[in-house]
Amino acid sequence: MSRIDKRQVKMGALKSDALIFFGATGDLAYKKIFPALQAMVRRDDLDMPIIGVSRGGWTLDKLRDRARDSLQNNGGVDEAAFAKLSAQLNYVDGDYNDTTTFDRLKQALGKAQRPIHYLAIPPSMFETVVRGLAKAHCADDARVVVEKPFGRDLASAQALNKTLHEVFPESAIFRIDHYLGKEAVQNLLYFRFANTFLEPVWNRNYVDNVQITMAENFGVQGRSSFYEEAGAIRDVVQNHLLQVTALLAMDAPIGRDARFMRAEKLRLFRAMRPLDPKQVVRGQFKGYRDEKGVAPDSNVETFAALHLHIDTWRWAGVPFYIRAGKCLPITTTEVTVDLKCPPLAVFDEIAPPQSNYFRFRLSPEVVISAGVRVKLPGEDMCGEAAELIARHRPEREKSPYERLLGDAIRGDAALFTSDECVEAAWAVVDPALGNAEPAQEYAPGTWGPVTAARVVVGDEGWHDPRPEATSPC
Ligand code: BG6
Repeated sequence: MSRIDKRQVKMGALKSDALIFFGATGDLAYKKIFPALQAMVRRDDLDMPIIGVSRGGWTLDKLRDRARDSLQNNGGVDEAAFAKLSAQLNYVDGDYNDTTTFDRLKQALGKAQRPIHYLAIPPSMFETVVRGLAKAHCADDARVVVEKPFGRDLASAQALNKTLHEVFPESAIFRIDHYLGKEAVQNLLYFRFANTFLEPVWNRNYVDNVQITMAENFGVQGRSSFYEEAGAIRDVVQNHLLQVTALLAMDAPIGRDARFMRAEKLRLFRAMRPLDPKQVVRGQFKGYRDEKGVAPDSNVETFAALHLHIDTWRWAGVPFYIRAGKCLPITTTEVTVDLKCPPLAVFDEIAPPQSNYFRFRLSPEVVISAGVRVKLPGEDMCGEAAELIARHRPEREKSPYERLLGDAIRGDAALFTSDECVEAAWAVVDPALGNAEPAQEYAPGTWGPVTAARVVVGDEGWHDPRPEATSPC
């Protein structure tokens, strides 16, 4: 057993006793991390020193002001919780290339024995920070949380895993994908494995096709330099949408333990066929090239539509269609699982209608519905489509960041991505990365380039999500 593994065994599932977040002055901290920290303090879930680290040249007071401002703009300040959070907060300023930054962090950690380091920083800085932590002994008995994107292709993800493993054992590494912390995404898993009626139809014998659409009605929102490096496939397909696909398609884990979940997911990722670039359409919204920081001849995709094959006995031959884009008509993420038609037209209808489906609205609303047909009143045996709907209001839920940070602090890895899974997911998208084919232009407010229609085999086409009708819970 290596020295690193021995340390981790000793640590077991002990709770971390200090939270350090790198990138404390950044955008992610402002939008997501401070609101999550306040919520955790409010629930008495974060009774430990919290240390922000940044190279911004800031002071602790400035960080506290920033935290208040962040909360005012992202959910509101709870004065009592904020006072506690401010008192727990500390700040270390310094260049990540300078070893004295980490020596000062070590000092700031004081008596903490099991820190957790959250790297909310650009991936290009991961290696420097991890090595800095190790050298200053800040990584001893520690955990590390790593933000997405984890690498930019298979080779870089492998290299990153190698670097992390030199300092941290796999069980101490938490690769975050905030989609997995969403209540609705958890609900997918629950719905599938807590209901008996689904399993008999959840396979190639009954499922005709699966569609996943992640639509956003806004552009790159000032993140153009990130987007120029990423594009839609790296930004949301390799991670969020393949994870959703895995939850939809994997076999039942033999238990809730992270090892069992990961084992089933990995099996599924490995059964996904690497994308065929001919079955991928990339698009770019008109006006993207005018954004500040975007190259005038940029070929980066702000939209992608693709056909994914899953080569298992359960799914062979069932197309999984995935689509994601900026500047589309609506902001929502929705999954539809279409069942096959009844074999014969028994009633007074021209052909057996494509009647049954399951629809999972993952955001902004949380809805699960089953599409059925019911008879219209009258003499004729004709029907109409109806939906049996289960929905809930997401008000009292933990935000994904609150949930995931809490899990990582407790050492629960069930909602995090393993080294093997992240690499397997890159292996799927790798052939579709790069700019071999030009991205097709599309008008903002439309469903991407017209050529995206050719990704879907057959006449059905894409199911464009509509605004969700509201009804009393
Ligand atoms: C992020 C992507 O991971 O997820 C963004 O970088 C995207 O481009 C965002 O907008 C969507 O997440 P959510 O939770 O707001 O739906």
